[in-house]
Amino acid sequence: MGKNGLQVAIDGPASAGKSTVAKLVAKKFHYIYCDTGAMYRSITLKAIRLGLDLNDEEAILNLLKKTRIVFEPGDPVQKVFVDGKEVTNDIRSTEVTNNVSAVSALGSIRSELVKRQQFLARDGGIVMDGRDIGTTVLPQADVKVFLIASVSERAERRYKEDQTKGISVSLDQLKQDIEDRDYKDSHRKISPLKKASDASEIDTTSMSIDDVVKAISRLIENKIQQL
Ligand code: DC
Repeated sequence: MGKNGLQVAIDGPASAGKSTVAKLVAKKFHYIYCDTGAMYRSITLKAIRLGLDLNDEEAILNLLKKTRIVFEPGDPVQKVFVDGKEVTNDIRSTEVTNNVSAVSALGSIRSELVKRQQFLARDGGIVMDGRDIGTTVLPQADVKVFLIASVSERAERRYKEDQTKGISVSLDQLKQDIEDRDYKDSHRKISPLKKASDASEIDTTSMSIDDVVKAISRLIENKIQQL
């Protein structure tokens, strides 16, 4: 445990509800929330806007080193700023979503972002969500959770979310996108999506958000009592 509290790692595949529950858990315990996927999305967005070749690792790393990514609390979603400009919605575009797996597979990009993530978590009091938090970023995390849900359930959740934003994508397309991203995230060479051996797996398919938050809160409270 750090001076500000526990380090809580929440990993799992795309659209398993990680960011929604991680944010609520952080709020409940007055911890910082860090969405590491937003960091990979931010550098992908900047590289696309500058017209870089997304396989040019050196160019993207040089760009990342000059890039400031900052989070600010916001409702209903955390606000993200790249070099002082808000990109909260832009990083969720289909173009970024379809290209972020390529950028997040680059080793030097991962090392640089992992360093930044470890720095943010150094004093504890943080809930961090991603794919490799329990395995690579914070292998000593006090609480590790691996959230899963069926592909159909995840596609339906994304479908409803898109509808409220006025985005129209078919359910079949969303299922296909989720399967593709799962495959890429769990088969990349460096830090693939994988459950840490000491993580608690929670299948959220038929659980409400509130139930998932309660289950994770119990894990945190039990850990605090043990310390
Ligand atoms: O959680 P998300 O969909 O916003 O993540 C975007 C992409 O970033 C996803 O395809 C996997 C990648 N990612 C990663 O490789 N490692 C992390 N810690 C977080 C996200």
